[in-house]
Amino acid sequence: MARVTAGVTTSHVPAIGAAIDLGKTRDSYWAPAFAGFDFSKAWIAANMPDVVFLAYNDHASAFSPDLVPTFAIGCAEKFEPADEGWGPRPVPTVIGHPELAAHIAQSLIQADFDLTIVNRMDVDHGLTVPLSLMFGQPQQWPCRVIPFAVNVVLYPPPSGKRCFRLGQALRRAVEDFGEDLKVQVWGTGGMSHQLQGTRAGLINKEFDQRFLDQLIAEPERLAELPHIDYLRQAGSEGIELVMWLIMRGALGARVRTTHRFYHVPASNTALGHLILEDMP
Ligand code: DHB
Ligand code: FE
Repeated sequence: MARVTAGVTTSHVPAIGAAIDLGKTRDSYWAPAFAGFDFSKAWIAANMPDVVFLAYNDHASAFSPDLVPTFAIGCAEKFEPADEGWGPRPVPTVIGHPELAAHIAQSLIQADFDLTIVNRMDVDHGLTVPLSLMFGQPQQWPCRVIPFAVNVVLYPPPSGKRCFRLGQALRRAVEDFGEDLKVQVWGTGGMSHQLQGTRAGLINKEFDQRFLDQLIAEPERLAELPHIDYLRQAGSEGIELVMWLIMRGALGARVRTTHRFYHVPASNTALGHLILEDMP
């Protein structure tokens, strides 16, 4: 049987991707941010999943305002890095898991979650930066990845509660897949940041720390937070944090915090990162 073996969350700032690709990770600005992932790289090498189910948001790379799915599951064999304006990042092609993705699509749609099935899609920094943070710069990504794009760019985003419930349904789907696979669920984006308007540059450390505490210990309560509170407290792009609730829903009620990291600033964003594992 397939099982959810751990949950990982991390921010996805594009400048982090550029710092990795241009060899700047040891610069004084970036070194403290990357230091938070030294543990994670060693941990994941020792706890390698077969598949990562990676909840992320597309930034008008694969989708445009012409077509905005709330939840889109990547069912393709592979996904190429998107050209985000400066050419595609020099990172490996992402290899999917079409069989597990199709099974999850069937299971979630039959459980009343409306997913868009995507059979061809490029993936932008929202997906490739978390992979780079966790895996460094390998020739090939060391596991398969199912991209799961969530619309948090164009109003209205899905609620945290719906994302949490989706994560719970995802766990049931994974456990219902016949093959013996280790599956990690990653929630990416966040933490507090706002890239636009008069509040551009907003960071809210108190909100972020409370979010981390509640995501670990009181996810049902955190799932009740309405989207307007994300906007007011964590900035317009802080709404990316609802994707972390997909990860948390896929874990059990009680979790162990294997790793917790928080660093400001990373470009315009508060960089947060967790590794959580179910308590036995
Ligand atoms: C930044 C953060 C994001 O989430 C994003 O999609 C683009 C830029 C930033 O902090 O610069
Ligand atoms: Fe973003």
